[in-house]
Amino acid sequence: MFTVSCIGTGPRGIIYMKEMVKMGQDKFKIISLCDKNIERLKMAQNIFSIPDENCYLNEDDFFKNNKADVCIVSTQDQDHVRHAIKAMESGSDVLCEKPISNKESEVRKLLEVQQRLNKKVMICHVLRFAPAFVAVKKMLEEGVIGRLITIDNIENVGYMHQAHSYVRGNWRRDDETSPMIIAKCCHDLDLFVWFINSECESVSSIGDLRYFKKENQPEGASDRCVSCKYHGSCVYDAYDIYIKRHFWGKDMVSNVRPLTDEVIAKALEKGPYGRCVFACDNNVVDNEITMLKFKNGVTANLRMTAFTYLGGRIMKFYGTHGQIDLDETQGIIKVMRFGQPVEEKPISSLVDALSGHGGGDTGLINGLYDYLMNNNKNATSLSASVESHLMGFAAEESRINNGKVISIKH
Ligand SMILES: NC(=O)c1ccc[n+]([C@@H]2O[C@H](COP(=O)([O-])OP(=O)(O)OC[C@H]3O[C@@H](n4cnc5c(N)ncnc54)[C@H](O)[C@@H]3O)[C@@H](O)[C@H]2O)c1
Repeated sequence: MFTVSCIGTGPRGIIYMKEMVKMGQDKFKIISLCDKNIERLKMAQNIFSIPDENCYLNEDDFFKNNKADVCIVSTQDQDHVRHAIKAMESGSDVLCEKPISNKESEVRKLLEVQQRLNKKVMICHVLRFAPAFVAVKKMLEEGVIGRLITIDNIENVGYMHQAHSYVRGNWRRDDETSPMIIAKCCHDLDLFVWFINSECESVSSIGDLRYFKKENQPEGASDRCVSCKYHGSCVYDAYDIYIKRHFWGKDMVSNVRPLTDEVIAKALEKGPYGRCVFACDNNVVDNEITMLKFKNGVTANLRMTAFTYLGGRIMKFYGTHGQIDLDETQGIIKVMRFGQPVEEKPISSLVDALSGHGGGDTGLINGLYDYLMNNNKNATSLSASVESHLMGFAAEESRINNGKVISIKH
């Protein structure tokens, strides 16, 4: 049984701890919590019944008293490395949220400290554990489509998710958190590394913030939905998104519980999620295309776009003897061996549709347990996670330089 502490008891920290509780007390036992926000801390304390003396508002007090076998670091992007290092220094192995950091120097530092202290660190690249992606990985390994030549990947962010997270919400500014290619697409880059099984050689990327800015605000619109003449007719109307359409992001609109429609409406009056999508202080891109070449010759293409009806990835794998399409938006995997009939497998036959990240959240915690027990191939080692971040930093450098090809320095 592994004892667990958690710093950053927001939605992500809570999801992982709930998954641990589901696995049973003989596997994981949550013993201490830290969040600088008292409401967030209390919410988690109540869910997991943690005594007052083991709940901390201050990170120094938390780490001074940290005795857990494993510490979940689920704070914001710019704090992960500091918290992961403090956790290792206090004796814990670490489950660290992605992205590792938005700075290359910090990413490299974490790897150096992890190797020096000889601690286990797993980054939450949950899709490596999602059954649909695991199934494709297995087929590639078995040579079902021959030798892999190239991958096409569309990251359909979805218009409401873009508005929620990357225009109004936490990941709207690259100087406060991370550029889009790191914040959203580090999963895609990590999947490429995993599927292609090679280090990346070079990257080129173009993209910009095209739509969610002041010049596109409809005439006469107000900067807040509550007082806007388009209230009720705009597709980005916050009241419509969070109250009528019950978008999942409503949980983040307020920390007050129970989260009634009245509570949400009140929070939208003054809070960040009630702002006009054309009048926020966002600067991250809403569309980006990235081309990558790997050392083993395989190539890949990633299109990230906000402008999609549905969310989810559409990945196409082209091999010498066939093609595999993994389409999360339609919930289907198609296997097309050349000269043979098409085989279709619904993703729902592989995974409980209601579980987070296509089953990846559950799979990740199972994978963590195996990793701590030295039982698995360590599907997502820190060094592999570092590789995808180096690709992301290079892609961002390329994007800022109008698509210049950037070689990755290993
Ligand atoms: N693996 C995935 O697929 C996935 C999905 C979504 C988000 N994320 C990542 O997970 C992380 C957390 O996301 P979230 O949505 O829970 O964010 P959040 O901002 O809602 O929650 C983070 C929590 O950390 C607390 N916190 C911040 N600094 C702290 C400090 N110094 N000491 C103690 N507490 C502190 C905040 O008060 C907050 O409650 C982010 O880095 C995000 O990029 C990963």
